[in-house]
Parts: sequence; structure tokens; C-alpha cells
Amino acid sequence: MRKTYLAVGAIIVLGMMSFSYTNYSAQVFKSYTDSLRSLYSRSISQWPQPTIDSGAVWSEMAAIPKDDTSWSKSDKDPVTRLGMFLFFDPKLSGSNQISCSSCHDPDLAWQDGRVIALGNDHLQGNRNTQSLLNVFIYPKLFWDGRATSFESQMVEPLSAHHEMNMDVPTLGEKLAKIKGYQALFEKAYGSPEIDFDKIAKALTAFQTTIKSRSTRFDKFMSGDHDEFTDDEVAGLHLFRTKARCMNCHSGPYLTDTSFHNIGLTYYKRKFEDLGRYNITKKNEDVGRFRTPSLRELERTRPWMHNGLFDNLEGVVNMYNSGMPQKPKTEEQKNDPMFPQTDRLLKPLNLTQQEKKQLVAFLNTLTGVPYRMRRPEIPK
Ligand code: HEC
Ligand code: HEC
Repeated sequence: MRKTYLAVGAIIVLGMMSFSYTNYSAQVFKSYTDSLRSLYSRSISQWPQPTIDSGAVWSEMAAIPKDDTSWSKSDKDPVTRLGMFLFFDPKLSGSNQISCSSCHDPDLAWQDGRVIALGNDHLQGNRNTQSLLNVFIYPKLFWDGRATSFESQMVEPLSAHHEMNMDVPTLGEKLAKIKGYQALFEKAYGSPEIDFDKIAKALTAFQTTIKSRSTRFDKFMSGDHDEFTDDEVAGLHLFRTKARCMNCHSGPYLTDTSFHNIGLTYYKRKFEDLGRYNITKKNEDVGRFRTPSLRELERTRPWMHNGLFDNLEGVVNMYNSGMPQKPKTEEQKNDPMFPQTDRLLKPLNLTQQEKKQLVAFLNTLTGVPYRMRRPEIPK
């Protein structure tokens, strides 16, 4: 009897020991990724706080609406519909060969896939064409923010010799000769008369319907936490913390819509572009460019105002370096315009694995494109 008691007792004790041992080891060896996963499986308000320096303006990440159908307005709203025809019509250019869509091509995420834009007479500009996806979010347009409305923005590409080379004041007259347009303007504005204001209003209406679609990132943000691989969860965490990206790329569109110098100004060198300084003439604005949205990133290459990067590993390596500046020479010390790289950039010390995870996360920001067919141009 006694022996049996002892045996049963031993089994119970061993059982308890092994139970608590597995429990213990599970806690100790629970992988880092698992704990990250559980942290990011909570609601967003309970996520680890992002690493943001004082003074940086940011907002929390968020999903964009899943079923945004604003693009379908171009079928229903007559002003938007008119804008769509104008956007795709090469008759808006002096040579009748170049339309807005030559550079902002819906098949190429509403940009042109080129390092630098190519326009009238095959002349090159000096900047990378911006994608028009989600352009409605920006209070200031262009890389340097020089336009504060679509109406004033569009005069530039229309008239620039290296873009569409059109004599803008005569554009209304030119379009008025086209029967199809008379009818479209009549429908949109109640009269067939055509002037620049009406053209601008229609193009604006159309451009603000150009939006990106929901992505895997949005699914994750909406609570579908199985959507991300372990590397993507780790990359999200790095983006928000150690890699410091959230200091400038935040909110639902991953941009603060503000201006920063990340060190690509080429001051006093061949490809110099002073960016925001050209507009404000403030020394601290030398080399500042508008922070781009990171949505649809994979499709908007090459990246940066000068199309410098074609792969995300390169971009991540650049940020990882912190873009250190050499000590200033005497001449530079006395130059009030000498560019200052943004104080929000710092060396990041990311490991190879962390760089890979960050890139994995960035790739979740690209979704399935909405394919838009070019409309038949009015004759
Ligand atoms: C030759 C190529 C080309 C053509 C044609 C062209 N664009 Fe652009 N577009 C660009 C480039 C390059 C930029 C960025 C320029 C800069 O920042 O200095 C840009 C920027 C823009 C922006 C600002 C986007 C932002 O994120 O701030 C808008 C809006 C825009 N274009 C609309 C138009 C419209 C409307 C037309 C037709 C009337 C047009 N573009 C024709 C190349 C072109
Ligand atoms: C100090 C603010 C700031 C921080 C921090 C920052 N960015 Fe940027 N980012 C910018 C600005 C400004 C640009 C455009 C610069 C230019 O064209 O000269 C940019 C451009 C980019 C682009 C190119 C996008 C395009 O459409 O051309 C990518 C990709 C990018 N950043 C990713 C990141 C990642 C990843 C991190 C974190 C490792 C990060 N950024 C941190 C401000 C910042």
C-alpha cells in the first residue's frame, strides 16, 4: 500500500514539475516575434508608443476606407467626367502630343516610372514625376510645395516648354472648336463657353478622385492580425521605433505632408536642387522636400525628388547611416545657406535582419491597383 502511495505521489510531483517546467520554458523561450505579435494584436491605442522626437509633428497610423469608390464619380458627376477627358487629352498641349496622362499614367501608378520626367520635344525636367495617388491629402503641391491649389499648380505643366508647351490663355478657344467638348462643358456648367477656370475646376475634380486602394497593411490595421508574417510585424515595430521613420512618415498615408532635408540637395554640386528654399528663400529650407506618402511604394519607383533610388534596400541603407555630415570647412561655416540635414535623422544601427524586416513591412503598403481604361478623347 505504502509503495503505491509513494509511486502515485512521485508521479504527481514529477507531473507538476514537468508541467511547471514547460510553462517556465515557454515563458523564457517565447520568441521575441511572438511577443511583438501579441503586442500588435491589441487595439492601436494600446500599441507600444512610437519613438518620436520632441517637436516632430505626427499622427497615428490608420487604415484607409476599404470601399472608397470616388473614382466612379467620373462616370456620374459631369464636372469630374469632363476633367477625366481633359486629363487624358493630348490636345491640351501645344503639339497635340502630350497629355497629363503621358507623365501621370494610370498604368504606372499615375506617374511615369522614369528617374526624371520627359516632356515636349523630348526635353527632360529636373525632378521625378510625383504619383497622383492620394494627391488630395497635400495642402501644398509639388516636391517643394510651390503651389497651394490645383488650379495654380496645373498652369505649370500646361505652359512649361519642357512639359506641355501650351499657350494657356488660348486653350479655351482651342477646345471650343471641338464639338465633343462643347457638349461636355454644357453638361458640366450649363453653358458651352470654355475658359481656363472651368478647365481647371474640372481637372481638379478629376484629380481628387485618384486614390489608392486598401492594402494588406489596412487589413492588419483593421484587426486582421494574421495578415502579416512575423517579419512584417517586426518591420512595423521597427518603422515605429528603432528605425525612427514615424518621425516624418505617419498617419493613414505615412506622411506628415511637411518639408525636410534628408541630405539629397547636392549643394553647390552638379545636380544641386535647393528644394523648398527656392520658394521661401529661408536658409533653413535649403534642401527640404515634401515627405512623400509611402502608400503604393512598390509601384511608384524610382523614388525621391530626383529618382535616386530604385530599390528599398538602398533607401534603408541611406537612413541607417543617419546621413552624417562632414565637419564644416571655414568657408562652409561662414555660409548661412549651407544645408543642415534634418535633426530627426540619426544613425540607426539596424542589423541585416532588421533591414530585411523593415523592407518586408514597406511592401505591405502596396495593394491591388484599380485599373482605369483611357477614355475615348472627344473629337
Ligand atoms: C512632362 C511630364 C509631366 C506632364 C505632362 C504633367 N506633369 Fe504633373 N508633374 C510632373 C512632375 C515632374 C511633377 C513634380 C514637379 C516638381 O515637384 O517640381 C509633377 C507634379 C504634379 C502635381 C503635384 C503632385 C503632388 O504630389 O504635389 C500635380 C497635381 C500634377 N503634376 C498634375 C498634372 C496635371 C493636371 C497635368 C496636365 C495638365 C500634368 N501634371 C502634366 C510631370 C508632368
Ligand atoms: C526627417 C524626416 C524623415 C524621416 C525620419 C524619414 N523620412 Fe523618408 N522621406 C522624407 C522626405 C523629406 C523624403 C523625400 C526626400 C527627397 O526627395 O529629397 C522621403 C522619402 C522617402 C522615400 C521615397 C518615397 C518616394 O515616393 O519617393 C522612402 C521609401 C522613405 N522616405 C522611407 C523612409 C523610411 C523607411 C524611414 C525610416 C527608416 C524614413 N523614410 C524616415 C522624410 C523622412
